Amino acid sequence: MADRPDGGGKARSQVHNPTLSRISGIATPGWCLHHPGSPRWGDGDGRARDRTLSCVIQVEELRKTYGRVDALAGVTFAVGTGEFVAVMGPSGSGKSTLLQCAAGLERPTSGRVRLAGVEVGELDETGLAALRRERIGFVFQAYNLLPALDVADNITLPLRLAGRPFERRQAAEAAARVGMADRLTHRPAELSGGQQQRVALARALITTPEVIFADEPTGALDTRSARQVLELLRDLVDRSGQTVVMVTHDPVAASYAHRIVFLADGRLAGQIDAPSPELVAERMTKLGDW
Ligand SMILES: Nc1ncnc2c1ncn2[C@@H]1O[C@H](COP(=O)(O)OP(=O)(O)OP(=O)(O)O)[C@@H](O)[C@H]1O
Ligand SMILES: [Mg+2]
Repeated sequence: MADRPDGGGKARSQVHNPTLSRISGIATPGWCLHHPGSPRWGDGDGRARDRTLSCVIQVEELRKTYGRVDALAGVTFAVGTGEFVAVMGPSGSGKSTLLQCAAGLERPTSGRVRLAGVEVGELDETGLAALRRERIGFVFQAYNLLPALDVADNITLPLRLAGRPFERRQAAEAAARVGMADRLTHRPAELSGGQQQRVALARALITTPEVIFADEPTGALDTRSARQVLELLRDLVDRSGQTVVMVTHDPVAASYAHRIVFLADGRLAGQIDAPSPELVAERMTKLGDW
């Protein structure tokens, strides 16, 4: 486990997923539900604040089966608007599957997902694509950058797909936020894994999405870049009220979140509020092999 100021991690196995897709459709205005979780968290400047929030994500009895594998075996939880939640669990415990189902990238075998006020199961593919495009940012475990596009074009791709006007300056600003300002004209193949990961994050943030799902966003980063990314994610929550759900294997990375949800064998296996790296590491050892 790294010290928090040196937060970071190792390169991890990659999972493929489809990237950004079709245009059009609509997103409906929101459900407003109260978070059933614990009552308070720190708000970044030391004060506690009330966690009586509307929920931006609710998953209910979520199951996802691949052949004989129960990737998710009945997961129910909610994430409040403006909350930063880390998802942890052993390899194969269903973390990526949970993120992809919660983000509307995968259809669950059964169960419900409400995301940004929308009952995801009721959307057709066009509606789903619109929801993802307009309200959601997703950082894939495998980055999923388009190899033929340079960094600037990869970052602004969601804006282009959405038909939103933009200037190249926006790509430069987004790249600068993740320390990639000097690589705008490079292709993904000319970048290291960690650099690609940061470009993928910049791409996910370019539309200012309400909810950011990030699957091991620091997995390939050195400790300094990892800290930069984690501070950026925390800042989005603290300053902009955006919601972040992040998968990580690193207790230090997880300690940037308000709350950690643990998965084991496709099921929830507990949670920690206001996590410290030490507490997380202790809980991880109790969950068995990682
Ligand atoms: N497309 C797929 N087809 C078949 N099985 C799959 C597929 N995607 C995931 N699985 C299986 O579902 C289970 C959960 O996979 P998932 O990728 O969600 O795990 P994870 O917790 O993200 O693991 P890691 O930490 O290694 O990324 C695993 O047993 C995996 O083999
Ligand atoms: Mg995964």
